[in-house]
Amino acid sequence: MKNKYIKKGIFCILLLATVKTATYAQPSVAASKREHVCIDNDWRFALGHPYDPAKDFYNGTGGFSYFAKTGYGDGAASPGFDDRGWRKINLPHDWAVEQPFSPKGSTSHGSKAIGRNFPDASVGWYRKTFVVPATDLGKHISIAFDGVFRNSIVWVNGHYLGTEPSGYNSFEYDISEYLNYGGNNVIAVRADATMEEGWFYEGAGIYRHVWLNKTDQLHIAANGTCVTTQVKNNIADVTATATIINSDKKARSFSVTQTIVDADGKTLATGKATGLTLKPFTSQDVKSVLPVTNPKLWSIETPFLHRLLTTVEENGAVTDSYTTTFGIRTIRFDANEGFFLNGKHVKIKGTNNHQDHAGVGAAMPDALQEFRIRTLKGMGCNAYRCSHHPPTPELLDACDRLGMLVIDENRLMGVASTELNDLKRMILRDRNHPSIISWSIGNEEWGIEGNITGARIAATMQTFAKSIDSSRYITAAISGGIGNGISTVIDVLGYNYVATKNTDEQHKKYPHQFSWGTEEGSTVASRGIYEDDMSKQQLVAYDRKQNEFFYSLEQGWKHYAARPYLAGMFIWTGFDYRGEPTPFGWPSVVSYFGMVDACGFPKDDYYYLKAWWTDQTVVHLLPHWNWQGKEGQEIRVCAYSNCDEVELFLNKKSLGKKIMELNGHLEWQVKYQPGTLEAIGYKKGVKAGSDIVKTTLAPAQIKLQADRAAIKADGKDIAIIAVQAADKNALGVPTAENEVGFSIGGPGKIIGVGNGNQTSLEPDQYVERANLVSIGNLKEKFVDDLNVKAEVAADYDDSGWQTAFKDVRDDNFGQKVKALVYRAGFSIPADAAAATATFFSKNIGKVQSIYINGKQIAKEIKEIDESPEFKLDASLLHPGINTIAIVATPLLKANIWSGVNTDPGLIQLLYPAASYKRKLFNGNAQVIVQSTGQPGQIILKATSPGLKAAVVQITAADK
Ligand code: GAL
Repeated sequence: MKNKYIKKGIFCILLLATVKTATYAQPSVAASKREHVCIDNDWRFALGHPYDPAKDFYNGTGGFSYFAKTGYGDGAASPGFDDRGWRKINLPHDWAVEQPFSPKGSTSHGSKAIGRNFPDASVGWYRKTFVVPATDLGKHISIAFDGVFRNSIVWVNGHYLGTEPSGYNSFEYDISEYLNYGGNNVIAVRADATMEEGWFYEGAGIYRHVWLNKTDQLHIAANGTCVTTQVKNNIADVTATATIINSDKKARSFSVTQTIVDADGKTLATGKATGLTLKPFTSQDVKSVLPVTNPKLWSIETPFLHRLLTTVEENGAVTDSYTTTFGIRTIRFDANEGFFLNGKHVKIKGTNNHQDHAGVGAAMPDALQEFRIRTLKGMGCNAYRCSHHPPTPELLDACDRLGMLVIDENRLMGVASTELNDLKRMILRDRNHPSIISWSIGNEEWGIEGNITGARIAATMQTFAKSIDSSRYITAAISGGIGNGISTVIDVLGYNYVATKNTDEQHKKYPHQFSWGTEEGSTVASRGIYEDDMSKQQLVAYDRKQNEFFYSLEQGWKHYAARPYLAGMFIWTGFDYRGEPTPFGWPSVVSYFGMVDACGFPKDDYYYLKAWWTDQTVVHLLPHWNWQGKEGQEIRVCAYSNCDEVELFLNKKSLGKKIMELNGHLEWQVKYQPGTLEAIGYKKGVKAGSDIVKTTLAPAQIKLQADRAAIKADGKDIAIIAVQAADKNALGVPTAENEVGFSIGGPGKIIGVGNGNQTSLEPDQYVERANLVSIGNLKEKFVDDLNVKAEVAADYDDSGWQTAFKDVRDDNFGQKVKALVYRAGFSIPADAAAATATFFSKNIGKVQSIYINGKQIAKEIKEIDESPEFKLDASLLHPGINTIAIVATPLLKANIWSGVNTDPGLIQLLYPAASYKRKLFNGNAQVIVQSTGQPGQIILKATSPGLKAAVVQITAADK
């Protein structure tokens, strides 16, 4: 976020850029002081509490807390807080996905045990200690969060930085003045996921990246570059604007160079503005128009990317430089003909998606974004709607790289400054992505979409959005009230589900309005299921309309394909996601809408679309051919294909050739006989493709298939491994439900498992658990010296002792009392033997000896031996009440207003993660494996009783 106290320059400098002869010499960015450091690793995490102060680490309880006095972050927000007992984690992290399922959980959020009914699991605390070198003093340093779910509060070194209510906004805080240069610094974040924003799974916690940004005080603003392109007669006019800020205390004079570089590093055009000056706390937009001849255009098929290097120089030295990735392309909507990219008509074949994947929930490694976009592209999907919020930036990067058009969507409609500002932040952050063709101002705002209030709000938001970026088209997704409200003012009308709407009538009434289907399909299916089973909450994967309010996929696509004025449609949804398990509730926890399941395994609908959305020859048969016990009964067989004709064979006998209707499918009723069902597709009478399904034997072996043979050894990259059960002839068994166990060796770890079964209540993740046992209610007794014996015994009767620390620890106390014994009981749970116990002690004496259940674990440690920790042998503890005795010389107050530490520390019980396992669902499961940072061979082994085990090897190669 830009500092609102920076005054913006009111004029721009328009440069006539010089087109340079192509050269490979890049402007030097080496001297730039800008650093953009990902700080995802080495965080500590613990669950807090929405209203119990003790369980919320006493944050906000101080007589003077962080709203009262600057730097007074208390409890876990205080830099001195002892977080040694908290779990160690790396980001991105979603604590919701770690929770078990519960019928009391919110159906919208996939019935995870989090939210209103689970206060103990609904607040998460994150802390990280990091070093800032002394040489950074004088720089402009900020901390940037790509997104935290939700209602995050952030402190640095106890200084309150701000609260961000939305789980979907990116936000950045200037921390330059709060840092300890040349020493340790502590970030604390409290996220409260008690309340939901969406009606779909949203995760919980810091589920996107966190960055430390360091620049000179004279720098390019955050999200401060803007590139737009216009192409005419093979020349692209690239308009590059950079907002420069001077947050220094003195005026600065500088020049700005803007250079366009292609993917090979070749300089294409450059422009320079000189003689610029900014007074302290002012900013200025510097604009260059840079011509690029014969530009390589960004498109769906060839997503060619360029880079804009913006360099700020002062007295010949580079003070800042920034690289903006962009694409050169034109977009245009036509009210009668739909959408055009680079002047070429493109029918939008889109999907809606939420950020949720099997195993990892909302905390997606970047490579998973790429996997998902590739999966969608595989069925011919060319557009992605970020329903219903601004996405993780890396999703947009993947769409830019892979060629996927995007609708970027605002979360909540409204015209109060908060909502308009949220819309603005989305546009400023995302405006340079060539993939984005449209800003959506909202989705199905039932309270306003069909009335005059909605029309007013939409018109204002639309004009406001265009004032920030006039190069994209504004849309809103509407479920009803067509002909009234939003539909009367919006530039690109988004229909959610045309079964109940007359698009032709609206087009006639508003002949200049652009339109598309922002949601269509809404079919509900379980992958690999061909008979409804209501008791198991499983629904057939044949394309079937849900009810009279929706179309089947085929009906929906035919509607859009037949109407050129409709730019295209977005299926609800590409991937299944947690929550909205329509038409069911518990124990279904995942939606049924996807063309692929929550792992990305295709349902049959995927092939219907692939047939009509790609140019590849498709012949796909359904169902599987394992119908033991149904011999002689009729089975509904369908073929999805884009061939002219398809002929079906059962055990080599033709069951007839049928002509394929455009955008249609073919069906046969086939009397079941085990064996081979084959479909042959013909184009112009010649065999063009085929598909075979065979009756299989029982599962005999496991097969593992990694999506990639090698990943980067960077601690972030992932491999996605498909697990399958096969019979002895290596045929995948489409009905297998075996449970498979996984073990991993080498520099990799499993971060999640899934199987696409909407009713599976198996864990997504097996993570270690830290149980913190506090030691409270200390009692004390004065003694003569540290060599007491009886009072430290486990069973000593201390019932007559007084509550500890009642007496003020002043000099008088110090003269009167030579030593004390403190005693307390603490409760150890029955399963503690499974955990590693560590006592994270804090000194409550100048010198102290510690006894647990009568056994000495520390002898005369000194206050200066700061906060020692002790591994406690399992034999030392027992379930039930245990005792701790601390014999200490008293700690005394340094002055009249200070206190002394009264907290003896806590015991952490660290339960190791159980090993990963997952049942197959209709033959498949998925394992996500992540690099741990070192190069080497990652070996994943899968075993299942009665089946031959499988091993897959993935190379983790240097970055
Ligand atoms: C739409 C809504 C989507 C999803 C879908 C489920 O009305 O926009 O977010 O809820 O229904 O059918």
